[in-house]
Amino acid sequence: MTTFLNLAELAEIARQRLKPMAWAYYSSGSGDETTLAENERAWQRRAVHYRVLAEVGERSTATSVLGHDLAVPLIVAPMAFQGLAHPDGELATARAASAAGSLMTLSTLATESIEDVVAAARGPLWFQLYIYRDRDVTAALVERARAAGARALVLTVDAPLLGRREADVRTGFHLPDDLPIKNLLPAGHERLEAVAGDSGLAAYVGTLLDPDLGWKDLQWLRGVAGELPVLVKGVVRPDDARRAVDHGAAGVIVSNHGGRQLDGAPATADVLAPIVDAVGAASPVLVDGGIRRGVDVLRALALGAKAVLIGRPILWGLAVDGEEGVAAVLEHLREELDLAMALAGCRSIDEIDRGLLDPGAQAAR
Ligand code: GLV
Repeated sequence: MTTFLNLAELAEIARQRLKPMAWAYYSSGSGDETTLAENERAWQRRAVHYRVLAEVGERSTATSVLGHDLAVPLIVAPMAFQGLAHPDGELATARAASAAGSLMTLSTLATESIEDVVAAARGPLWFQLYIYRDRDVTAALVERARAAGARALVLTVDAPLLGRREADVRTGFHLPDDLPIKNLLPAGHERLEAVAGDSGLAAYVGTLLDPDLGWKDLQWLRGVAGELPVLVKGVVRPDDARRAVDHGAAGVIVSNHGGRQLDGAPATADVLAPIVDAVGAASPVLVDGGIRRGVDVLRALALGAKAVLIGRPILWGLAVDGEEGVAAVLEHLREELDLAMALAGCRSIDEIDRGLLDPGAQAAR
């Protein structure tokens, strides 16, 4: 087992292990990567006004999201092509996530099939959905996700086209022939081929996914999804978040796609609180982007998120040690969160409130 002191150290080990094309794909953001960098910095800027003498001898990180009991407020973010990181790919991630009492969100663009990943998971799993121009292809994916036992759909709404990730243009990003996008085998869209002068993924998205989505399509999806809750991922504005909930979204994920779509988009830490306020208590708001420390998780929960999604660090763990590596990342973040809770004066997730970041806004306890 590889040991690491923090996730930045793990990222460096992963960089050395991964093929340059895979590292470039996972690590890059779009454009000048300003949003990618700001995502991390915006958490760090928020001082935590810890409480003292708070009797923190016993603590719990347990919580519940959309009816799922989680041991930690950590959810694995949807990330494509995990077979590039490790031969066990998404199967390893699913096993580690459920063993940790976390929950995995499986990408449409996975290198393992939804059926196999749900079977590996031994716990709840969500399915991230891209809407293909061909609605029959999309509806078939939803049906498979439901039949396999996925517990929610996560609709990504920030990618009408793919952000221009220059690192992928430079490497000519594509998948090797022995790594198909398995969920798309029946539709014949399983290949991600090299394209001269572009990222193969940008060409795939531009050709096959629907850039013309509107609110009517969320309604369409809700009809197709039936009882399966639909969360909307990729929102950075309170008005969009409110509208998503008004259109039946079961929850909202504040995200700028890890700084991979619109470079110049706000850091998620900077927009989370107003979105939580706009959505109200009835629907959960989750967040991702740049969370690299347990204290960042605490900051996100203090701003009102029910849980956070962890992206790249999971891939670094997967690349370095497969299932054990993903487990180590989740355990590392759990330990850091537990320590941050103790030092901030919080015994339970419920005690992490906005007053920790803004004591003036809260009456004395
Ligand atoms: C895939 O969804 C990506 O953003 O690379």
